[in-house]
Amino acid sequence: MATPSPSTPDRAASFGLVAEGYGRLRPAPQDEAIDWLLPRDASAVLDLAAGAGTLTALLALRVPEVHAVEPDDRMRAVLRERLPDADVHPGTAEAIPLPDAAVDAVIVSSAWHWFDTDRAVPEIARVLRPRGRLGIVWNGIDRDVDWVDRWSNGLSGTGGQPAPRSQSTRRGELLRTALETPDSPFGALEHAVFTTTRRTTPAEAAALLGTYSRVILLPEHERRDLLARALDTLCAELGIGPDDAFDLPFRALTWRTARR
Ligand SMILES: C[S@@+](CC[C@H](N)C(=O)[O-])C[C@H]1O[C@@H](n2cnc3c(N)ncnc32)[C@H](O)[C@@H]1O
Repeated sequence: MATPSPSTPDRAASFGLVAEGYGRLRPAPQDEAIDWLLPRDASAVLDLAAGAGTLTALLALRVPEVHAVEPDDRMRAVLRERLPDADVHPGTAEAIPLPDAAVDAVIVSSAWHWFDTDRAVPEIARVLRPRGRLGIVWNGIDRDVDWVDRWSNGLSGTGGQPAPRSQSTRRGELLRTALETPDSPFGALEHAVFTTTRRTTPAEAAALLGTYSRVILLPEHERRDLLARALDTLCAELGIGPDDAFDLPFRALTWRTARR
């Protein structure tokens, strides 16, 4: 099984550097996307690579038993503060600290691209019950909206730009390569896209960019320049001030499959 991962260990571990801001600024996928990812009758679910618990909190509203696995100490600390009663474990997708057949669903939000899928796919299958659900989502600003694309393209050239427009295609290829192999423990992938808007301000939207690994790892002065430019160009694009409210388009790219 191939593992076409563009990641490096440094980037995968970068989020803890901005754990508090990550928990505050990154939005969860909208309700329709979460409902599409989860099996209707799930009694136990794992939020794998749970980060600061943004999605964990919403899973806990829907499923009686929720486990969260996250390797980064600082992200787990924010998660624990947010959800003091949650069942939170240090661990990775490649070594999940749960027994065999423990859950009806494993949900992975904005993290699949960090996994070593040769090891993670059988490990996820191990903790799933037969016919259990694997749900995968990437939630981010919607670059299919022209002005959003114009804004993010305007930030290119520093290494800090958000991922390009073909993201949906690339994510789909990544998943098919890892999951739709002849010996895969999983069935065919289904795909859906959910769009929404979120009321925010240019100041918050620019700060949101600072929670992406490419931006986190820029040298301090480059990061500051990029975020200042993001704020200026967004205000100019929308014709509003840094603290004026506007609707920022978001898009959840979702996939689901079942354990054979
Ligand atoms: C972009 S964040 C997503 C966090 C959360 N799922 C969300 O949607 O807000 C990626 C997370 O994946 C975690 N991570 C990186 N490599 C991992 C691995 N091999 N196994 C499990 N988690 C990993 C990072 O520590 C980080 O918290």
